[in-house]
Amino acid sequence: MTHYPATRMRRTRRHAWSRNMVRETLLSPADLIWPLFITGGEKVEEPVASLPGVSRWSVDLIIQRAHEAVDLGIPCVALFPNTEADKRSDDGKEALNPDNLMCQAIRAIKDAVGDDLGVLTDVALDPYTSHGQDGLLDDAGYVTNDATVEVLRGQALNQANAGADIIAPSDMMDGRIGAIREALEGDGHHNVQIMAYAAKYASAFYGPFRDAVGSGGLLKGDKKTYQMDPANSDEALREIALDIDEGADSVMVKPGLAYLDIILRAHQNFEVPVFAYQVSGEYAMLEAAASVGAGDRDALLMEKLIAFKRAGCSGVLTYHAPVAARLLGAKQ
Ligand code: PBG
Repeated sequence: MTHYPATRMRRTRRHAWSRNMVRETLLSPADLIWPLFITGGEKVEEPVASLPGVSRWSVDLIIQRAHEAVDLGIPCVALFPNTEADKRSDDGKEALNPDNLMCQAIRAIKDAVGDDLGVLTDVALDPYTSHGQDGLLDDAGYVTNDATVEVLRGQALNQANAGADIIAPSDMMDGRIGAIREALEGDGHHNVQIMAYAAKYASAFYGPFRDAVGSGGLLKGDKKTYQMDPANSDEALREIALDIDEGADSVMVKPGLAYLDIILRAHQNFEVPVFAYQVSGEYAMLEAAASVGAGDRDALLMEKLIAFKRAGCSGVLTYHAPVAARLLGAKQ
């Protein structure tokens, strides 16, 4: 007599209602943070060649994106400026200008949508330096730590004063979370959050982003003296522990898909919300694959986004945020 299995894993997969009922992980527009690139001028939309479907927007058009985010149920946007070439300098002092592109965009978005949308701002000097590094260089070309942190404090305060809700230091200097928290508290910004790019790797996946903020052509060398070695995992836990200890409200792992193991360990080891940054190179790879017929774009991107949730993320920074939010809306 043939013995059939009593346990049939396929039973619960037979119908859509049942698959929906046993689904372990859900993705919603509220899980998405939308990175936006800002440029000068008025009524300017500049497509970023290496990021098909992504543009830089002038401040007046950024406001439209903010309304779009609110309409789609996206809770937060992340802002990155493409600073004009003549405002970039060795010391990146444009980062401290209360009327720089970043501050203009923060104010415009907050004026337009108020607390209906969170505004997250990147803290690092690379969009402002003439050498494309995230910090200040010493005579030997090394990115100095403590002097850079002093400037980052000023940059964070400048953004908070303009109305930023979440300060997100992406520079990977030691001690910057504590220094920025202290500066924010000292200036009355008690409720401004810090999302630390805690485990940020020296990755080859950032190329299109550097095109978008105009730092790619300027950068000489690499960022390996401050961003992490992709070979390391235990070190990521030390970075995350330090940032939490210094006052981070949430932490980020970056890039995303190649680092799902780090996300899982972060989620299992700490009680803070963990976010992933699905970076520019990941977006570009997916779009390139879909454009040559290697897969269905929408299915590919939704499968990737659910993977972040499954690994333990509270949310994902992704250039696909509006597309994904529309797909999720259409499904309901
Ligand atoms: C700046 C910064 C980078 C990214 C976010 N903030 C680039 C870098 O570190 O060189 C990359 C984001 C992306 O690739 O989408 N420090």
